[in-house]
Amino acid sequence: MQIYTTIAACRAALGTERQAGRRIVFVPTMGNLHEGHIALMQKAREHGDCIVASIFVNRLQFRPGEDFDKYPRTLEADCEKLVAAGVDYLFAPPEAELYPSPQRYVVEPPPEHAAILEGEFRPGHFRGVATVVMKLFSIVQPHAALFGKKDYQQFMVLSSMVREFALPIEIIPGETVRAPDGLALSSRNGYLSPEERAEAPRLYRTLLNVAEAVRSGCRDYARLETEAMDHLRAHGWVPDYVAVRKRIDLQCPTPEDISLVVLAAARLGSTRLIDNLEI
Ligand code: PAJ
Repeated sequence: MQIYTTIAACRAALGTERQAGRRIVFVPTMGNLHEGHIALMQKAREHGDCIVASIFVNRLQFRPGEDFDKYPRTLEADCEKLVAAGVDYLFAPPEAELYPSPQRYVVEPPPEHAAILEGEFRPGHFRGVATVVMKLFSIVQPHAALFGKKDYQQFMVLSSMVREFALPIEIIPGETVRAPDGLALSSRNGYLSPEERAEAPRLYRTLLNVAEAVRSGCRDYARLETEAMDHLRAHGWVPDYVAVRKRIDLQCPTPEDISLVVLAAARLGSTRLIDNLEI
């Protein structure tokens, strides 16, 4: 695996690959890689012949007071995992390479996509995500890119961005990878104490219960959401939201809508976890 830390070197290497007719598939990450990330790398293989990963903890998508400083940085272990997964190139720039001066030009996703759900509780988050992904796309110029459904709203925002800017990039979803007890893998799971880790799968079980109720015919989504949040609270969680939404645009469904997803975000101690389940 070739590792590049500068935009110029990365562009030069990938330019050669492109001229050789290879199909470049890109998997952006913030590192501290787990099986969820690796599954995306493996799926990338099915979609192209030159696999590029990036590792960059993007300050723009963190709010002041969030975990930017303590976000785990484990480059050496990450490289070993990427090599084992057969990744061809890693772009891992220092912050001064991607943001040599404050980033004033940004991608501002529309509020109906970016001020709801995660965006309500993390204002500016999707501006930061869209801006860095646009910049990474401009550096890597991939034919395709993969994003996990674990971050369902992020996938929706980035797919919409690519469509509305007519970027010639195919956006491919990856299924959420879970621990055997159901907890969605996440770099933030490492913040959990042993007791919290034992409690954490309740978030997924709660989503399963909501999904089951909807499948059994319940259309009173507001009641299901309230009950789910009360259930989490009763077990020590501080939920931000549990919401049944339309898959396509994450807006509130009417009783006739059938293609749904239930999404949740909740804090356990000081760790904020998110998860979702297609119904
Ligand atoms: P990060 O949280 O490192 O995630 C990188 C990619 O891995 C994202 O597409 C995410 O959805 C996916 N992923 C994370 N956990 C997963 C799991 N359990 N199963 C499947 N896929 C999973 O998401 C980001 O980084 C950043 O916002 C980024 C897009 C890199 C922009 O900075």
